Amino acid sequence: MSMENPAKPLEGRVAVVTGASSGLGEASAEHLAELGAKVAVLARRAERLEELVARIGKNGGRAIAFTADVTEAEEVQAAADQVEAELGSADLLFNNAGVMLPAPIEELRMDRWRMEIDVNVTGLMNTIGAFTPQLVRAAAERGVADLINTSSIGAQNIFPNFAVYSGTKAYVSHLSRHLRVELGPKNVRVCAIEPGIVGTELQDHVTDESALQWLSGSRKTMQWLTPQDIARTIGFIATQPPRVNLQQVTIMPTGQTS
Ligand SMILES: NC(=O)c1ccc[n+]([C@@H]2O[C@H](COP(=O)([O-])OP(=O)(O)OC[C@H]3O[C@@H](n4cnc5c(N)ncnc54)[C@H](OP(=O)(O)O)[C@@H]3O)[C@@H](O)[C@H]2O)c1
Repeated sequence: MSMENPAKPLEGRVAVVTGASSGLGEASAEHLAELGAKVAVLARRAERLEELVARIGKNGGRAIAFTADVTEAEEVQAAADQVEAELGSADLLFNNAGVMLPAPIEELRMDRWRMEIDVNVTGLMNTIGAFTPQLVRAAAERGVADLINTSSIGAQNIFPNFAVYSGTKAYVSHLSRHLRVELGPKNVRVCAIEPGIVGTELQDHVTDESALQWLSGSRKTMQWLTPQDIARTIGFIATQPPRVNLQQVTIMPTGQTS
């Protein structure tokens, strides 16, 4: 610890970021690399990942791209095996890939429900399944590891027409509380981050008229968070001394009231 470079507090660490091709994941991967971690970035859009890897490299960091669909357990496991072979055991997982497809429940948009559940719950679990052994091994060897899951303010508050999305995020928060208790004794810290609105591509997939109106209204009356606000928070969580586990971080735009 005394040898630590204060400008690079995550030097020697191996971070994995899912949903790294845009938004929260992309900004966090860049920031974790700035802090000195080697970063494995994972998503489906290979081109976007390659651009990110190149940018991180240009800024003096090290990153590797893995194209995978988190809903396919074998693809995530293959990426996990390759991460371990190329970078060593992952000791930080930012488990962040997600989709938000609001619709009134009576429209019976089962395609959207299924997609939200598949990515936000099953994909999250596939990633936990693939990387937990590495986190536990790394924590035993290096003293600490981090599992940071992306939840949402939707896990706490009520948002009409966002029932299924919010339900998936309530799952993420409650799961994280349980995993903290299971993994904490093994020096793996577990955190759920619950952001309010952040300007990303997440909103671009929304087609529900009332949700679109609510979003465009809120953009006029408040300043949304930026992906960099979340990235700095992820960096803060990961750079705490090993004894400190931020269990749940709710981060809201100052002006967001619902
Ligand atoms: N933006 C907000 O207001 C907000 C607030 C609270 C929580 N969140 C949560 O933050 C997380 C990141 O969202 P964002 O706002 O950054 O949105 P975003 O810009 O749309 O990013 C979503 C990321 O998830 C990836 N992804 C989606 N489906 C995937 C799949 N099947 N397999 C692998 N990767 C997949 C996307 O990559 P590919 O399409 O390339 O696969 C993309 O990199 C999500 O969990 C979201 O629910 C966002």
